[in-house]
Amino acid sequence: MDIMTVVTATALVLGFLLSLGFAVFQRSCSKSRKLLPPGSFGWPVVGETLQFLALSKANRSRDFFEHRIQKYGGDIFKTSFFGHPTAVFYSPAGNRLLFSNENKLVQNSWPDSLARLFGNSLISKVGDDAKVLRKMLLTFLKPEALQKFVGRVHSVVNHHLRSHWIGNPQIKAFPLLKRCLFSVACNLFLSLEKETQQAELYHHFISLLNGMLQLPLDFPGTLYRKARIGSYHIRRILQAVIDRRRKDLASGSVSEEQDLLSFLLCNADERGNRLPDDDIKDNIMLLLMAGHDTSVVTVTLLLKYLALNPDCYHEVLQEQLQISKEIEGREEQVVRWDDLQKMKYSWRAAQETLRLHPPAGGTWRKAIVDISYSGFTIPKGWKLFWTTNSTHSKEEYFKDPQKFEPSRFEGDGPSAYTFVPFGGGPRMCPGNEFARMVILVLVHNIVINFEWQLIDPAEKVSVDPMPAPKKGLPIKVQERLRP
Ligand code: HEM
Repeated sequence: MDIMTVVTATALVLGFLLSLGFAVFQRSCSKSRKLLPPGSFGWPVVGETLQFLALSKANRSRDFFEHRIQKYGGDIFKTSFFGHPTAVFYSPAGNRLLFSNENKLVQNSWPDSLARLFGNSLISKVGDDAKVLRKMLLTFLKPEALQKFVGRVHSVVNHHLRSHWIGNPQIKAFPLLKRCLFSVACNLFLSLEKETQQAELYHHFISLLNGMLQLPLDFPGTLYRKARIGSYHIRRILQAVIDRRRKDLASGSVSEEQDLLSFLLCNADERGNRLPDDDIKDNIMLLLMAGHDTSVVTVTLLLKYLALNPDCYHEVLQEQLQISKEIEGREEQVVRWDDLQKMKYSWRAAQETLRLHPPAGGTWRKAIVDISYSGFTIPKGWKLFWTTNSTHSKEEYFKDPQKFEPSRFEGDGPSAYTFVPFGGGPRMCPGNEFARMVILVLVHNIVINFEWQLIDPAEKVSVDPMPAPKKGLPIKVQERLRP
């Protein structure tokens, strides 16, 4: 090889390396030129999670968002929650972007620490896997399927009211209603009917709930560790229930349509696959949690709002008494699905409660590509958070937003993407019809059977992680005299 060949080859290699280096340099420059949303990631690791949790607990999560929106302007800012860089979207346009671009720009994505607790459940599935599993769960949760369970909900609710309300002049509504709704969920999902059978499960659900939205510090004694232990015991109990049920199904002593568990054990998804036991346990754990912990907020605070707003109470009472008269004329004296459709005002009152105190204040998606929004780029991989705070209590979307005004939901109701207690798009809450059924059956039974007065009309609400009256809503109750 002559000297010229060596020089030329060296020059070519150097040239290639230089241009490669320049391309990489240019790429990184152009990357850094991307304008990220304004905001701060806060402290290393914890980010701004602690500020957010502290304000949430005082029912002031809105202050966390408003402060930043006012500081940075616009309708988006960046922060870091639960160990993830996060873009918070704060307008109906932001809600629309997140709800209508599943699998195109975004995917459902809860914080890893929370998703880990619920294992292989729906919340950790994306794409086609999520579609197939949602479809399967919705076979049980859709209105057509729920209709046949209304009578059973009615019986559980009645039994609860007879056991815990009648004869007690003063009760704490929140913890009692929570047990009642847990009982409904245990009954419809697992046919666990006795409170003694439910008690151990309930105990572990409390640990799970208390730790699931905390910093994921997995050491002995932390709330997150306790949540993990709680979820372990819940799975252990559920496995025993599954083993027993398999035997009962085999002997024919229970039907394939008995409840959600039988349904999941006996049916395949649309790909022809049966769910493995581990997935059945994870999904039932998710549904038991979501099935009672959210609706209890709405029923409890609705009782509070009705006590504070006599005109609204009067309308709910008249509506429910009319329905009660119709039920009394029937052979089987329980609420039916078609009765629920007549509870129009009562449902508006529940919706107004959901607006003022949404049980889930927002959830997460993840950017699956770089997303351009409002002149900013949200890099692929970031979490995206939407929140009911951006619209539910804002004058521009709800006139006089602090006022309890069920008539807002008359006619077409609020404008699109402003009333979002159940989220939206393909990942919207699949339990919304179940929630509506249970809330209305409870409201019916409470309103026609009891009168109540608030002990502390100024009782505050705290959020940890769900909204709840600080003292549990103590009320004086007495049985309503029937004409
Ligand atoms: C007042 C009652 C309820 C409220 C306010 C509520 C709210 C929500 C919200 C905001 C989401 C996230 C939606 C999104 O990201 O777009 C969600 C998801 C979910 N909810 Fe509910 N929920 C309620 C009751 C229920 C009930 C009764 C069940 C089950 C029986 C349930 C099961 C679920 C499940 C499984 C998911 C995850 C959906 C997915 O990942 O695709 N929820 N809920």
